Amino acid sequence: MNLSATAIAHPNIALAKYWGKTAFGYNLPAVPSLSVTLAGMATRTTVSFDESLAADQLVLNGEPSAGETLARVSGLLDRVRARAGKHGLRARVDSKNDFPTASGLASSASAFAALAVAAARAAELELDAAALSDLARRTSVSAARSVLGGFVTLRAGVEGDEVLPAEQLAPPAHWDVAIVVAVTREGPKDVGSSEGMKHTMKTSPYTGAWVERAPALFERVRAGVLAKDLAAIGPAVEQSALMMHAAAIAADPGILYFSGATVEAIAAVRRMRKDGLEGYLTIDAGPHVKVLTRGSDAERVAETMRSVPGVLRTIVARPGPGAHVEP
Ligand code: DP6
Repeated sequence: MNLSATAIAHPNIALAKYWGKTAFGYNLPAVPSLSVTLAGMATRTTVSFDESLAADQLVLNGEPSAGETLARVSGLLDRVRARAGKHGLRARVDSKNDFPTASGLASSASAFAALAVAAARAAELELDAAALSDLARRTSVSAARSVLGGFVTLRAGVEGDEVLPAEQLAPPAHWDVAIVVAVTREGPKDVGSSEGMKHTMKTSPYTGAWVERAPALFERVRAGVLAKDLAAIGPAVEQSALMMHAAAIAADPGILYFSGATVEAIAAVRRMRKDGLEGYLTIDAGPHVKVLTRGSDAERVAETMRSVPGVLRTIVARPGPGAHVEP
């Protein structure tokens, strides 16, 4: 019996941000989000269920890992075990990113998407993309989106939701855009997104405004992606990110993910647009600035961003495929 499988998944970047969970249901997002799954960078994860193991084991980028990360992994494995009727069977999980974790690309999204796909296959469960996305969402909301490729949406959770999967809005080839990541720091982690959004929802006086306004921004981004209209979605993409950060900054105590270089990079994107090169920024739970632009402008945008004081390097990423089992 070979209860082992390997899966590949890619990170994604949200153009309409998810930030905050609903009070009811299990790990349900409070707002709808829309992301692009990125080619070029990947997490590769092997799950092997093994009768001889007394506990789940996790090796992350070659190093044994325990604590909270292992607990999150075991939580996902428990759901797979329950579904497959393999309650007593522990697993060895070996996961590697081929991109630096501190690059500002959400490694938890690709990690939990790859884990869901590999674990389901290793346990011989036949799950479709929606069921795999829902499985990943229960551990990390953004991971639900990395199960699908291209342009992906995830609606907000509502009371009574049992399952909530992400859906593909359009395949990778739908629109030739690029995301230029301006890396502003190689160092330690920030306040994690799960923790940061929980604190925001609980203490920020701007939470209500964020949750109320996010759906309209999401709709503008969705319509603009379908119409392939960069000028139409750009302002909504920027507002979604900046409104999310404004809510976090207004928390008690405030959470500030920006560094000086982040602010310089924001100013540079706006200057660049005035000079006729079109790109729109988004920022996740870290100091890096990501610029959405036309595929044909990506190299020029990257060059502009590299000239910003405090920007260490750039990564150019394009729309890519969803998570899949390695044959
Ligand atoms: C800023 O998906 O990491 O990247 O659901 O608690 O695991 P959990 O949070 P996570 O949050 C991602 C937040 C974000 C925006 C986004 O990807 O939509």
